[in-house]
Amino acid sequence: MRISPSVYLVGGSQEGLTYGPDGHIYLVKGSDGIFLIDAGNGYDVDGLKHNVEEEGFNFSDITHLLITHHHTDHARGAKEIKDRTGCKVWISNNTGKHLLEKGTDEELGIPYAKAHGMYAQDYVYIHCPVDRGIDDGEIFTIAGVSITAINVIGHSYDSLCFLMNLDGLKCLFNGDTVQYGGVIGLINYPMCSIADYHIGLPKLKDLGVDALFPGHGVLTIKNGQAAIDAAIKQLDSIFMPHSVGQTISSTL
Ligand SMILES: [Fe+2]
Repeated sequence: MRISPSVYLVGGSQEGLTYGPDGHIYLVKGSDGIFLIDAGNGYDVDGLKHNVEEEGFNFSDITHLLITHHHTDHARGAKEIKDRTGCKVWISNNTGKHLLEKGTDEELGIPYAKAHGMYAQDYVYIHCPVDRGIDDGEIFTIAGVSITAINVIGHSYDSLCFLMNLDGLKCLFNGDTVQYGGVIGLINYPMCSIADYHIGLPKLKDLGVDALFPGHGVLTIKNGQAAIDAAIKQLDSIFMPHSVGQTISSTL
């Protein structure tokens, strides 16, 4: 599904593009190649490949897979995509690299998810080698596109937002950090914390985002900053006497 000349939605179970459950999987076309943002659960990589090819691209031409965070609906498919395309997989250095490569079930919160009916009892997370960990504030170029990575803790320690200019628009691919309408990704799950959101979300202030490409739900190519600002405003209205936040674990 073409969103703009350089951005395509090629996976996601909400749109029926892939079965999963998958978060949105975006393809970005740069001046020098193509790359994906997020991988989905990996149950329907054939469907993902079909969608990529329907848009006129070769699946094997995908050079990089950027992961917004380690959660299953964004990252579990990374291994199969990497195996089938040979692409490089990049994810946050802040716990994400460890979790995707070799996180234990306990670290991944899988027993908790199974106990609360979020995952089937036979669910298995699929680990994937990571070619590069990304640090907060890093700027790098993929396929001719300059990308700034912003680590926004709150939804998870490793949540990364990818900021880039495409088609004259300032675009933010923000995973589960913020959704359209200013909804934050606060869930009852390990590593998700409203105290951390108080620390992380203000990093998205005053970015002048045009296109907001979240991991779920509605996306927009106009005034995406409004959704971010609404989320920050709502967060500010929540009294936090000690917004200390979780200490980012150096052991993960
Ligand atoms: Fe998530």
